[in-house]
Amino acid sequence: MILLARSCHAAALAEIEALQPLAAGWKKEGFESEILQACAQIYCFFKDHQIVGFLALRSAGGFAEILNVAVAPAKTKQGIASSLLSHALACIKEQNVTQVSLEVAKDNQAAVALYQKAGLVILGERKDFYGPAKHAFIMGKNL
Ligand SMILES: CC(C)(COP(=O)(O)OP(=O)(O)OC[C@H]1O[C@@H](n2cnc3c(N)ncnc32)[C@H](O)[C@@H]1OP(=O)(O)O)[C@@H](O)C(=O)NCCC(=O)NCCS
Repeated sequence: MILLARSCHAAALAEIEALQPLAAGWKKEGFESEILQACAQIYCFFKDHQIVGFLALRSAGGFAEILNVAVAPAKTKQGIASSLLSHALACIKEQNVTQVSLEVAKDNQAAVALYQKAGLVILGERKDFYGPAKHAFIMGKNL
């Protein structure tokens, strides 16, 4: 089941984040403030009443940016991130979003493959985006 996060979910989201070093590094307080932003949506994948993965985005003016995605290490490779991504893209399309984009570390093969599988394409590259020699791809898609 996929539901939007509420403030009471911040601790569980931060626990998943802490287990996945390649995620954005948000802490509990970061999730709490993000959940309260009007333009933000955090989609949570629940399994056996527990959050096992999430996808965070912001949208405004017909444009959305995916900010963070992570799945608990014990639950990866089961299609959870794919489900979150397709659900989130369908929801924002209903909200009249027409373009989605994101930045992802160039060497994060799992994430790049996840986004490509959902039809996002590499639009460009940002050199040193995450630090010296840590380049990012800009990826996106029209909805
Ligand atoms: C990237 C991540 C979110 C994928 O979550 P997941 O639930 O395991 O992904 P799915 O099972 O839905 O896989 C979807 C597709 O992603 C790709 N993928 C996922 N894990 C992969 C891996 N370890 N290696 C290569 N490709 C991978 C595959 O194309 C896969 O499709 P397939 O199963 O048909 O081959 C997860 O590994 C994670 O939390 N990583 C750390 C955080 C992170 O990197 N976030 C992205 C920051 S931008």
